[in-house]
Amino acid sequence: MLILGIETSCDETSAAVVADGRLVKSNIVSSQIAAHAPFGGVVPEIASRQHVKAIAYVVEAAISEAGVTKDDLDAVAVTYGPGLAGALLVGLSFARGMAAGLGIPLIGVNHLEGHLHSVWLTTETPLPSPPLLPMMALIVSGGHTELVLVRDHGDYEVVGRTLDDAAGEAFDKVARLLGLPYPGGPSIQAASAPADAPVPLPRAKLPGTYDFSFSGLKTAVLHRVVEMATGRDVNAARGQSLPDVDVAESLSEQQIADMAAGFQESVVDVLASKTAQAARDFAVRSVAVVGGVAANRLLRLRMREEINLPLYISELAYATDNAAMIAGAAYYSNRQAPGLLDVEPSLSLQSHRTGAGVA
Ligand code: KG4
Ligand code: ZN
Repeated sequence: MLILGIETSCDETSAAVVADGRLVKSNIVSSQIAAHAPFGGVVPEIASRQHVKAIAYVVEAAISEAGVTKDDLDAVAVTYGPGLAGALLVGLSFARGMAAGLGIPLIGVNHLEGHLHSVWLTTETPLPSPPLLPMMALIVSGGHTELVLVRDHGDYEVVGRTLDDAAGEAFDKVARLLGLPYPGGPSIQAASAPADAPVPLPRAKLPGTYDFSFSGLKTAVLHRVVEMATGRDVNAARGQSLPDVDVAESLSEQQIADMAAGFQESVVDVLASKTAQAARDFAVRSVAVVGGVAANRLLRLRMREEINLPLYISELAYATDNAAMIAGAAYYSNRQAPGLLDVEPSLSLQSHRTGAGVA
């Protein structure tokens, strides 16, 4: 079964053709990073317009690179949430038009369910064995940080989540604070490389839960960089407003490297240890790490050290937002559910009933 996937929930316009939920025939990703970079983050209105400009070309490219024609497609799958409403609408409208024109089903896919399915994707034949279930999956992206018990396709239990910032969001905010370019994850990773004394920073362990919190860490970074830049003890000056300094200008490259590395270690430490704990407590057969932050080298390394079970980490091409994971998830969903598909910007994993598609 050949499914065309379409993903436009945030700042990547992507289309892909995937066979039987696993074999990636093509995966085209058009990134909008350059359009948003001057603003230091994703601007929703710009994202929608960029999707409108790119989508037809991206879909054409995905079909031709797969070496198939539109008539070979069995279904069109599209992300309908969570994400930016305007951005989601562009993908959904395009997908609906295409499915109607071709007379094939339209399958709505939860973006997070897509991320989970990134570890089923491959370009290898014969296909490698599928991931073992039940699985403990860490979803770490710009908008989400969740620990999900995956009992089966479509059977999920969110056992922990961030109480404030998502891990990727924390990377993006701290990068901005350090004067590093957007997106922050890759910038912090690169800036950390020359560190010789990573700055020790707090870890919010939130014992007894599988939840995360990154806002305290972000504030700790802010205080430390202001101290480094001004020589003033921020804690002693509690209650007074922080001096207005351009941190990026005031810190040396070495100080930025040490701060970036300290931040990265703190985030990775909490993510890896909580995931390992949840995997033990729920006696799962495997562990997965998916989403944009799964591209982080230190996280990949620490996970391999901490996890003694089969470990599946999204390949780089399928870690950040892409449509192959959407086509993959669609294959495993129940396509019979009735109802008119509409965008759901705040869709969560547990509120999702797989197969919200309509032909
Ligand atoms: O999954 P994704 O592409 O989009 C969302 O669904 O949010 O994730 C994007 C996030 C951004 O916050 C970005 O900074 C982060 O993933 N990211 C990374 C790395 N590459 C991307 N974070 C840490 N290290 C990386 N190498
Ligand atoms: Zn995502």
